[in-house]
Amino acid sequence: MKKNLITLAIETSCDETSVAIMKNGRTVLANVIYSQIDIHEKFGGVVPEVASRNHVEKISQIIDQALEEAQVTFDDIDMVGTTYGPGLVGALLVGLSTAKALAYAMEVPLVPVNHIEGHIFANFIEYPDLEPPFLCLVVSGGHTHLVHVMDYGNYEIMGKTRDDAAGEAYDKVARTLGLGYPGGPKIDKMAREGNPEAIHFTRTYLEKDTFDFSFSGIKSGVLNYVNSARQKKEPLNLPDIAASFQASVIDVLTTKTIDAARKAGVDKVALAGGVAANSALRQALVDKCGQEGFEFFYPSLKLCTDNAAMIGCVAYYDYLSGIRGDLNTNAVPNLKIGDK
Ligand code: KG4
Ligand code: ZN
Repeated sequence: MKKNLITLAIETSCDETSVAIMKNGRTVLANVIYSQIDIHEKFGGVVPEVASRNHVEKISQIIDQALEEAQVTFDDIDMVGTTYGPGLVGALLVGLSTAKALAYAMEVPLVPVNHIEGHIFANFIEYPDLEPPFLCLVVSGGHTHLVHVMDYGNYEIMGKTRDDAAGEAYDKVARTLGLGYPGGPKIDKMAREGNPEAIHFTRTYLEKDTFDFSFSGIKSGVLNYVNSARQKKEPLNLPDIAASFQASVIDVLTTKTIDAARKAGVDKVALAGGVAANSALRQALVDKCGQEGFEFFYPSLKLCTDNAAMIGCVAYYDYLSGIRGDLNTNAVPNLKIGDK
């Protein structure tokens, strides 16, 4: 085998157009991210059709930019990795079709990648020495999972949300508070000014011994609190609401993560996904893992958001285990973790 493998990786599952150039699994030569947030903000959320159209407009330019930053040419590329699910079908298809065309033209393998695995693998980029097994809390706009990462490509899902994902709850509560889209970062910021003990929102732990989550109750709790105050014409302290909502979500996430890590018998805990950027969640897990004797890993902010470097990292390990796509590979909007 050639000593170094260079991957061109593409990510277009939602509202970020991203292209990375990776050397082997963990060295980022370029990781260009173009975010469409400004475009979707005025609609209050991601508009799938608009997302696809913007991916089409941007993708070639982002590829050129990534090659230039990495100081490589198409001749240096050994494989093309691309997200093929989960995500918005029209958005996924832009990246997948581009990747197919590039792999075909360059006569190199195409490696289709699961986006959620990408979020987990962001930790491998951040920590070059990190190896499985570990327990990973994956929290994004569409997913909340407790994953026992037993090996590369070998996962046990210990728990998942039964209704809203954590990021979805953040976004919906932010909308109720009139903070706009995307709500997660706005609540994160506002909560820093508030008192997390001002209002007690219920913590939903579900049945004893389950690692599943439910966030729709707390979301309704905030909604009812706000509506009732508005009806009574009482003033709303938005920072206190944001901080109290966040405290309730974080209590449940951290408690279940530690319990699951203990059950899995691992000594390492990792955090992944868009909500992994949340400052209070990061701090809570730093503290709790420290107290409970777990080593804690979390990606830098750039690697928490959707980005192609994490996709290139998965592509490398998938490539080594023989996974290949071809011109018939299709987008799978509801792809699950561990599905290939
Ligand atoms: O992983 P991601 O970029 O997209 C999906 O794969 O879903 O996650 C986006 C989600 C959104 O719900 C956003 O509000 C949330 O991550 N998010 C945050 C923060 N930054 C992004 N939630 C809480 N605090 C943050 N700082
Ligand atoms: Zn994501």
